[in-house]
Amino acid sequence: DPPREPDDGATARQVTKVGVVGAGTMAAGIAEVFARAGYPTAVAARTDERATTTLSTVEKSLSRAVHRGKLVGEDMDRAMARLSGAGELGALHDCDLVIEAVTEELTVKRSVFAELDKLTRSGTVLATTTSSLPVLQIATATARPEDVVAMHFFNPAPVMKLVEVAHTPLTSDDVVATALAVTRSLGRCPVRCGDRTGFIVNALLFPYLNRAVNLAQRLHVGLDVVDSVMTGAYGHPVGPFQLLDMVGLDVSLAIQERLHETCHDPGLAPAEYLSDFVAAGYLGRKSGRGFRVHQPA
Ligand code: 3HC
Repeated sequence: DPPREPDDGATARQVTKVGVVGAGTMAAGIAEVFARAGYPTAVAARTDERATTTLSTVEKSLSRAVHRGKLVGEDMDRAMARLSGAGELGALHDCDLVIEAVTEELTVKRSVFAELDKLTRSGTVLATTTSSLPVLQIATATARPEDVVAMHFFNPAPVMKLVEVAHTPLTSDDVVATALAVTRSLGRCPVRCGDRTGFIVNALLFPYLNRAVNLAQRLHVGLDVVDSVMTGAYGHPVGPFQLLDMVGLDVSLAIQERLHETCHDPGLAPAEYLSDFVAAGYLGRKSGRGFRVHQPA
């Protein structure tokens, strides 16, 4: 476990029901984590159909866990019974904590938060899973920026234990305490940090991933060579190209662009191949092809 962070003596708010906004990989993974931990969890997507697909993604992931002997069938049934899905944000009106996991675009996130502000009750904690956008600019889309915090989960959410809890100067202490307490209740390790591009992990990770792409392009080193150096010889669980495909090249490019913009470091310019692959629609595992070709899950 990382060192425990002080909670400033603030009391966490009561969280009984949780809402998750989105229909992508992170939304499904986060909904699974909450439902498995015992929280009634409502997923809100743009349409009923997308909500249903998200619930089936969770179901498939839980079934895999059952097949691997990591989860008993009754616990899977209980987790599924805690989940509900809807095609509109209104379904989250009675949640105590809402976690937004939509596209990594500021305008989209701001419009989701503006809507959540209107339809959730006062005191509901509104969390964003942004990986690189300014939390403050998301928070100020609401009339209650003190209730807004970032809870940055990692991919794959059902496996990764770390959650970065990032607050703005306007986030209230009890909202930070709530995010920390809820994260611990999920059996995850929270790390508290400020509202800075890339927080801790992405600020360190993405310059490395981007350099790997530059290295392969400029030195004509094969992807397999780079990956196997970092796994076999260096001990990383996966190499940089495997990780880029897992995270998604579009998400990776967006993060790298933000780091480049905000750090004013020309060395952080996105690698040409990263932009070219995204332009070609090679987005990684989720689109079936990124730096490598993938079989559907
Ligand atoms: N969903 C649920 N469980 C999964 C999973 C998934 N998508 N993928 C793997 N698992 C589980 C397996 O079931 C297995 O669980 P078990 O040990 O209880 O049986 C465990 O994870 C290990 O899986 P495997 O042995 O099959 O596979 P690997 O050894 O390849 O490990 C991994 C998979 C743990 C995901 C490993 O590849 C890893 O650690 N990768 C690095 C992931 C990482 O760094 N993520 C961070 C990316 S950055 C990010 O998300 C930030 C964002 O802002 C972009």
